[in-house]
Amino acid sequence: MAQGAMLDEWYPVGLFSQLHDKAYKTVLMGEPIEVSLDDGGSATVTSSDRRALPVCVRYGHVWSSLGAPQKDLFSIPEADQPGRRFVDVGVVRVRCSPLRAVENFLDIAHFPFVHTDILGAEPHTEVQNYKVEIREDEVWATQVKFYQPQAAKSASGGITTEYMYRVPAPTCSVLYKTCPPRPSEWDVITLFVQPLAEDLCDVWPWMALFDDVTPMTDLIHFQQTIFLQDRSILENQIPRLLPLDPGMEIPTRADLTSVAYRRWLKRHNYTYGAQLVAQ
Ligand SMILES: [Fe+2]
Repeated sequence: MAQGAMLDEWYPVGLFSQLHDKAYKTVLMGEPIEVSLDDGGSATVTSSDRRALPVCVRYGHVWSSLGAPQKDLFSIPEADQPGRRFVDVGVVRVRCSPLRAVENFLDIAHFPFVHTDILGAEPHTEVQNYKVEIREDEVWATQVKFYQPQAAKSASGGITTEYMYRVPAPTCSVLYKTCPPRPSEWDVITLFVQPLAEDLCDVWPWMALFDDVTPMTDLIHFQQTIFLQDRSILENQIPRLLPLDPGMEIPTRADLTSVAYRRWLKRHNYTYGAQLVAQ
């Protein structure tokens, strides 16, 4: 399928820190690309027909596009806030639609069942009421509250964690989450998804945390553990592509964010990785 309206969006294509070692080849929406550093130390991205593609470096990653982005990459103000630690988690390759990867990230109902004893535990399986809205053309879910045995590496013992989710781009989500050592701030955990194909993606989580204590390797390992648990769920979802027509999957209250996300995708014609007609 053609990339459609998603062609002109920005996508992560790797960690900027990786580039210090060597240029590398990867794939964006079915197109082979090469990421390298020029003589001045700036990242460059080239298509297989040697076309220079748009590029920017932000949030630890190199971003590019096969089309012509109409605006700058979305902003995450916390990325410029002093005192945070920025964590490049690395990559998890998942054989699923890039849109499915984002939708799963937005879903809290699976916490007790998939991330048992970390992000959720039985019998605390109820999803309380929360709000979903479109703000400045981004999907936002707020006032999401959930009991968690160990919400973060810095948390000791169970707490009720509050979340906000934001979808600023079709394959990116930003999660704001209760910050145990600093109650007035939010920890930021992102999901940046690189679409390799409609049913294959590289998931690049990134974090901006207030945590001066936990060793970096432990922070990375904690987050990788969670995403590897998600991978086994994602690779078994049917249909593989994300259905965008209402009625194809039955929404429950926990799926409010998912419903808003799917409608927003459909309204924008963000259909790479989507299934439009019931089969
Ligand atoms: Fe998950």
